[in-house]
Amino acid sequence: MESLILAIDTSCDETSAAVTCGQKVLSNVISSQVYLHKKYGGVYPALAKRAHEERIDAVVEEALRRARIGWEVRSRSRSENEKWVTAVAVTQGPGLAIALEVGIRKAKEIVNNVTMKQFNNRPPLIAINHLEGHIYSCLAENAKGLPKREIAFPGLCLIVSGGHTELVLMKDHGKYEVLGATLDDACGEALDKAAKILHLGYPGGPIVEKLAESFYKASPCHARGRLNESKLSKPLKDKSNLNFSYSGLKTQFLYLVEKMTEEELGKNLHQLAYTFQEACFEQLLRKTAKAIEMYQPKMLLCGGGVIANKHLRSLLRKLAKNHSLPILFPPKRNLITDNAAMIGIAAYYKYQRKEFVNNPEDLDREPRLSL
Ligand code: KG4
Ligand code: ZN
Repeated sequence: MESLILAIDTSCDETSAAVTCGQKVLSNVISSQVYLHKKYGGVYPALAKRAHEERIDAVVEEALRRARIGWEVRSRSRSENEKWVTAVAVTQGPGLAIALEVGIRKAKEIVNNVTMKQFNNRPPLIAINHLEGHIYSCLAENAKGLPKREIAFPGLCLIVSGGHTELVLMKDHGKYEVLGATLDDACGEALDKAAKILHLGYPGGPIVEKLAESFYKASPCHARGRLNESKLSKPLKDKSNLNFSYSGLKTQFLYLVEKMTEEELGKNLHQLAYTFQEACFEQLLRKTAKAIEMYQPKMLLCGGGVIANKHLRSLLRKLAKNHSLPILFPPKRNLITDNAAMIGIAAYYKYQRKEFVNNPEDLDREPRLSL
């Protein structure tokens, strides 16, 4: 069934709207609030809500404009050549409650004000789990449908973001089994906190990546190995489950840094970033390898903001190669961090299954929604 989906995501600090057609991304507009939250060293919820409210209308308009899509507002007569949005999708959760509300309100407003040729009525509303979106970001294709992407089931999904670190077995479209999740902090959150401990700014992941990369390039292999062995432990090393833990690493890192003088800190900054990042990724790799052995998936799918890290992607590619597994990442950076295109692609599969919100008025945000 051909579909043109208008998707909205306001789960955290990006206001985003996109138009997708199946897995094709026709537009993906993202208005980032990062600079607003920088001085707080993390997302400030009330500020996020206000910024979403100020931007959502323009972001939706721009997504439709870029995709050359219109909709028939009840009062307007429609032209025969006009293309139509066939459904509206919105992130229901997980995320910040007061931020999610803004996107949901906008989606309701759109379905209430629009009539569709196909439906003689309101377009259907589709509620999407943000984590499902991060998985489906791996299937994104350009407007011409390239490169073609398809999931081989069962797929093993590794989601690594600012709020989540999860291993999920995807048995079919829409069928998930969570195999493991973080018991405390998420990996991205830990990287953000490490950057804060080093007084480096927000978001920490990309800053830590840059510092770590220059240390990695400048130092010989044996030195890098010794450094990691000596400084930080391997969380949940003796546990046979697939859960993650990052708060212990963060505390160890804090103690390590607190013992240093300003001068030592300045001298060792790159090395510290490298050490912490390696410890974070070691855990991701170890648990993913374990999940591959236990569940024998046919494919590895990786999504979430931390997957923007080049070094992590190369480690995961090696791991997949060692297990002769195909691996998928979102094809572009703006599909890795929070965006609405991934919500539209996830919605396409729900659209095919006709999983619509029964009564749009009743749709409420679910800040702790799980897969
Ligand atoms: O998926 P995302 O945009 O938002 C959530 O759903 O949480 O992920 C944001 C997280 C932040 O913690 C940020 O520091 C991290 O992704 N991140 C990175 C990189 N780019 C963003 N972490 C490591 N390396 C990067 N290049
Ligand atoms: Zn996200």
